[in-house]
Amino acid sequence: AGTGKFFVGGNWKCNGTKESITKLVSDLNDAKLESDVDVVVAPPFVYIDQVKSSLTDKIEISAQNSWVSKGGAFTGEISVEQLKDIGAKWVILGHSERRHVIGEDDLFIGKKAAYALNEGLGVIACIGELLEDREAGKTFDVCFTQLKAYADAVPSWDNIVIAYEPVWAIGTGKVASPQQAQEVHAALRDWLKKNVSDEVASKTRIIYGGSVNGGNCAELAKQEDIDGFLVGGASLKGPEFATIVNSVT
Ligand code: G3P
Repeated sequence: AGTGKFFVGGNWKCNGTKESITKLVSDLNDAKLESDVDVVVAPPFVYIDQVKSSLTDKIEISAQNSWVSKGGAFTGEISVEQLKDIGAKWVILGHSERRHVIGEDDLFIGKKAAYALNEGLGVIACIGELLEDREAGKTFDVCFTQLKAYADAVPSWDNIVIAYEPVWAIGTGKVASPQQAQEVHAALRDWLKKNVSDEVASKTRIIYGGSVNGGNCAELAKQEDIDGFLVGGASLKGPEFATIVNSVT
């Protein structure tokens, strides 16, 4: 950790029921969370209202996706305006599951990021390489291409957190080693320095995601360029998520 306030997001993905989410919210409300950390959870859309009305206001709400323009005749989509109306402050964009399962591309993701930022939502901008990219020595190329797509599209970097999530580490239990993650985070910061500005490079938080859990978070959090985490599976367990939030100390 080194840049700005430590940032920990819980991406609940497409998990949960009214009952399990009631329990998770109550565990989060009971947890002792380090106050000097930005903590955000991203419930499935249909539970955002329930979570917003029952969760401590020390934790902010993120959506897991948002539509690319103003709402209207877009069946099945959720607009940025609706997310703001319901109290969301953030949106996760460019997640690997949306890139690789749903088929969203860099251009579309960049447009979504620009729209959300222009309307005042914070963006958790995800990037990350596939295993085959890493094995072919293309990790930096792939991550820089994805980062450039955001850089080309966004109006400002004030409200962006970059989430580096190597696809081979997501949901696999195969976490990147602290050195592997630090190496990419440092390269991303360097890319920002060369291609955006010194200021953006030094103030933009770069968080790591991919099999983060209560056991491996402390070592990762010690790395200079790891400014927080985006947590999937382990964010569904309140006490473990709290351990990850508190790993910065
Ligand atoms: O967005 C968080 C995520 O993709 C990581 O998931 O389950 O490996 O922590 P997980």
